[in-house]
Amino acid sequence: MQTHLRGRDLITTQEWTKEEIDTLLDVAFDLKRKRALGQPHAYLRDKVLAMLFFFSSTRTRASFEAGMAQLGGHAQFIESTTTQISHGDTAKEIGEILGRYNDGIAIRQCDWQAGNQYIREVAAASRVPVLNMQCDVYHPFQILADMMTIMEKKGNPRGLTINVSYAYASSYQKPISVPQSLILLMTRFGMNVRLVHPPEFRLMPDIVEQAKENARRAHGSFEIMDDFDAGFKGADVIYAKSWGCLLTTSDHQESARISRQYSDWITDERRMALAKEDAIYMHCLPADRNIEVTDGVIDGPQSVVYDEAENRLHVQKAAMALTM
Ligand code: CP
Repeated sequence: MQTHLRGRDLITTQEWTKEEIDTLLDVAFDLKRKRALGQPHAYLRDKVLAMLFFFSSTRTRASFEAGMAQLGGHAQFIESTTTQISHGDTAKEIGEILGRYNDGIAIRQCDWQAGNQYIREVAAASRVPVLNMQCDVYHPFQILADMMTIMEKKGNPRGLTINVSYAYASSYQKPISVPQSLILLMTRFGMNVRLVHPPEFRLMPDIVEQAKENARRAHGSFEIMDDFDAGFKGADVIYAKSWGCLLTTSDHQESARISRQYSDWITDERRMALAKEDAIYMHCLPADRNIEVTDGVIDGPQSVVYDEAENRLHVQKAAMALTM
């Protein structure tokens, strides 16, 4: 078990070793148990986390803030629009200054081709750890919660087949950070990862190459498919969600037109029946109900979306307790 994590940033799971990720998950299970038993676990008494949001959130904000309180500390909620960032505060200044007030800085900045760079610039200037609450490239805490949920529901993930698929949505062009982080982490645990999407919805080539290499090293598998139904066949885990065709076009109208061609990419009861009988349905939420997924599936017996959302709390508390 590797425990030397104080002061470490968590921007992508790729920058943590498998043993370090195992430690984080182990601590997350322990903290979940402690909370269930009502055992105090104030490991961060008198510590403060700055939470800087450039983008809306339900789960991420609520779980980080609750998590800091449960660890005996405090979380500052800071919206970029109510700061002086638009009047000139640079990423370096944010890192320097928030790093002097706080014991950790968590950031959500999802702007395409800007978010990850911003978080890294803050991290370079900060004397305290920086935690990525989602950027344009990665969503590490979502995927750590997903792995914890798979372990709870299915045991050892090695050899399980996960279908990481595009699904249609009409609300907005969602970031590609969730599928990218999924293929990066699930391959490291020896899972058989299927990435399923129409040609216009490809992910960043560098991320795909890293996922292939992870699968090779972990003796799992990684394949890319373009047949929505085929992705479900015999799978243990169904994780079908929408993302934008960001590598194809930056034009919103064009991307909406392309997306509409795939409006039949919806997870429904017929498709779930193609997966294993005991397959679980996962989604990071929010979902476009009855567009991305039917009510019958997301509210049905195979859905684990609420346990998945709960586990955000436990993995984030583990990360904060270990790094701050
Ligand atoms: N899954 C997730 O990150 O949810 P929020 O956008 O509501 O934080």
